[in-house]
Amino acid sequence: MTPSIIAIDGPAASGKSTLGLRLAGALGYLFFDTGVMYRAVTWLALQRGLDPRDEDAVTSLAEKTPIEVAPASTSDGRACDVSVEGQDITWETRLPHVEANVSVVSAYRGVRRALSDQQRRIGLRGKVVMVGRDIGTVVLPDADLKIYLDASAEQRATRRYHELLLRGANADYAEILAKVVERDRIDSTRDVAPLKAADDAIVIDSDALNADEVFKQALALCQ
Ligand code: DC
Repeated sequence: MTPSIIAIDGPAASGKSTLGLRLAGALGYLFFDTGVMYRAVTWLALQRGLDPRDEDAVTSLAEKTPIEVAPASTSDGRACDVSVEGQDITWETRLPHVEANVSVVSAYRGVRRALSDQQRRIGLRGKVVMVGRDIGTVVLPDADLKIYLDASAEQRATRRYHELLLRGANADYAEILAKVVERDRIDSTRDVAPLKAADDAIVIDSDALNADEVFKQALALCQ
């Protein structure tokens, strides 16, 4: 039987969202990228002039503000729509000042609790591919299929570098690699829900695989 609740975890830029989106499309499931919720809280905190290091203030914001994540309503390259209080903030969540502060915000216990509760409610409805860092370990420990998508820091930095070049942006490989390594360090050493593969996750190492090959392997696991 096709698994109904599918969890995909892994480090930054390992290709989780690309895989999750394709898998959800192939199965007719909802694609849910949980990273956007941490980004949304970070954006909102900065927008309100809060200091991201003020754990109490940021936590209370996360507890009070519902974050809506819905299937993409426009084909402008987005994987889903993200909105708070009726405002579409999908692209705002990708801004560099959000990127620079999201690791701090996502390490707060209260923020994680508030967002994990929202994620769990959506995940338990089933027919979902949920992507993040702690989906198989904390949010949906009873998921029917858990995939941990891994890749070396060098490979992930190389992919980010080429993505940026393709978009015509300036890119510095050494700088990108340093950021990837730093994000890994913060995500995997935090006290609450650190990035790690669940004991029953199937690990796919994508260093030697392209996106199509990763997708085929994951789809085979679903069938
Ligand atoms: O996947 P992403 O780059 O959009 O994630 C943004 C940040 O949120 C990143 O620092 C890790 C964190 N995150 C998390 O802690 N738990 C999740 N389930 C998803 C993302």
